[in-house]
Amino acid sequence: MAEPKTNELMEKIVSLCKRRGFIFQSSEIYGGINGFWDYGPLGAELKKNIRDRWWNDMVRQRDDVVGLESSIIMHPKVWEASGHVGGFTDPMVDCKASKQRFRADQIFFAAVVVDGKTVGYVSALESDRTTEDLQEKAETFKRKKAIQGKLELVQPKDFTEAKPEEVPLVPSPATGEPGSLTPPRGFNMMLETNVGALRDESSVAYLRPETAQGMFVDFKAIVDTGRVKIPFGIAQIGKSFRNEITPRNFIFRSREFEQMEMEYFISDEDDWQKWHRYWIDWCRNWLLSVGLPADLLSEYDHPKEKLAFYSKGTTDIMFRFPFGVQELWGIAARGDYDLSQHAKFSGAGLVYFDEASKRRYVPHVVEPAVGIDRILLAILCSAYCEDQAPDDKGKMETRVVLKFHPRIAPIKVAIFPLLKNKPELVKKAMAVRDLLRPYLTVFYDEAGAIGRRYRRQDEIGTPFGVTIDFDTLGEKPELLDTVTLRERDTMQQTRVKISELVPLLLEKIR
Ligand code: GAP
Repeated sequence: MAEPKTNELMEKIVSLCKRRGFIFQSSEIYGGINGFWDYGPLGAELKKNIRDRWWNDMVRQRDDVVGLESSIIMHPKVWEASGHVGGFTDPMVDCKASKQRFRADQIFFAAVVVDGKTVGYVSALESDRTTEDLQEKAETFKRKKAIQGKLELVQPKDFTEAKPEEVPLVPSPATGEPGSLTPPRGFNMMLETNVGALRDESSVAYLRPETAQGMFVDFKAIVDTGRVKIPFGIAQIGKSFRNEITPRNFIFRSREFEQMEMEYFISDEDDWQKWHRYWIDWCRNWLLSVGLPADLLSEYDHPKEKLAFYSKGTTDIMFRFPFGVQELWGIAARGDYDLSQHAKFSGAGLVYFDEASKRRYVPHVVEPAVGIDRILLAILCSAYCEDQAPDDKGKMETRVVLKFHPRIAPIKVAIFPLLKNKPELVKKAMAVRDLLRPYLTVFYDEAGAIGRRYRRQDEIGTPFGVTIDFDTLGEKPELLDTVTLRERDTMQQTRVKISELVPLLLEKIR
């Protein structure tokens, strides 16, 4: 069957998420609020499974990583020391005609060059076909203006690279007309609030834009507990907030999101590149373990000249979303910048004393940082699938399936009595539900034809279905106390003893 087109696919995913209770727009009954999302019953389960798995693999299964839950609002000086108050800005551009606001690095433009001469400019918002878009627009521009000569291939640049004389000539992506875009200017993305009874300069505080600073600020407290020795990591999962100029692509870039970050402290004399590579590989393998396909993942090394001055190297694990290849997980080698800054601003001695060498030093850091919402979106996009399957009358119809890895699927098993008006079947089905419930997330469904019930579970990604039929009750004596176990992806059914269900399912899910 043909693959749905990019936008069509995103529309289908967004609509399924709303229809089946994965993700809703926040405050929808009031018209929604841009950049904020709510996770419904299935979304909350899916998110929890991702969170729990990361915590288990990153913290519980390791001797060298400990967990932390720091507060969302911290002393405002934290954000001065970290550089966020001064420098956490995105370049922003306003369109004076449409009153729309864009991120400058998401507006692409190109000169329309005919026979070596610039005859105008075209622009397009970043997409996975920005260059093709600009080329088509350049051709249309030349045709409409009836310009004769050879059109050169466009050379796209983003708006942060626009020379001052180019700014008024670039058409606004909102109106298609030049002259309304402002030059890019810095826009601080920190969300502010006030703490205490007074609302003035002295009470300003910030909602954290990343969880990472909690780990640096609590470094000394954690070292003093005596449980850790370098190399070691501090991990945290929690909400972060950024006043993004252009929240977009569903939950990909939002203003409130949840991060899973880990700061791995190493000796100043250790080989940071070795640890950097180690954590890139760890993150990649972790993504594979929750079911993301290897062919949709890639790596992007940030060019040296674009790194922050303190950064030694940053590599992003990229994912091919339907709207283009985008950053999923950033792994940054941050040197001793953060601890040194906090030592300077707070006056606290954030040095580490190495017992073996009797040496004091400021540790260096390698940081894997990822957003749960982004992982969840990647999982949804790669799991969405349409195939053909017979309906109750044997006629082929389109089946929508979310092929979640059983490990992270929100519901692991659906329990179906074949008919709801047969009390013996219902009673047995409920007994099977109660047997499985302590071990797995189960969903009991007795409403409608069995084929329709299967489809409903396929669409929310439930990997297994257990049907209780007359053979379960002993109609064929040799099948007494057996059920059919249906697998979502193959739709194959096997007969299984009820007494063997729990170990069998636990094994399949692991
Ligand atoms: N402490 C480093 C840090 O926060 P970042 O690249 O700004 O680095 C890390 O963010 C990860 O957090 C990103 O790779 C992405 O997965 C997620 N993330 C960042 N901004 C986000 C947003 N506005 N919405 C959703 N996820 C976001």
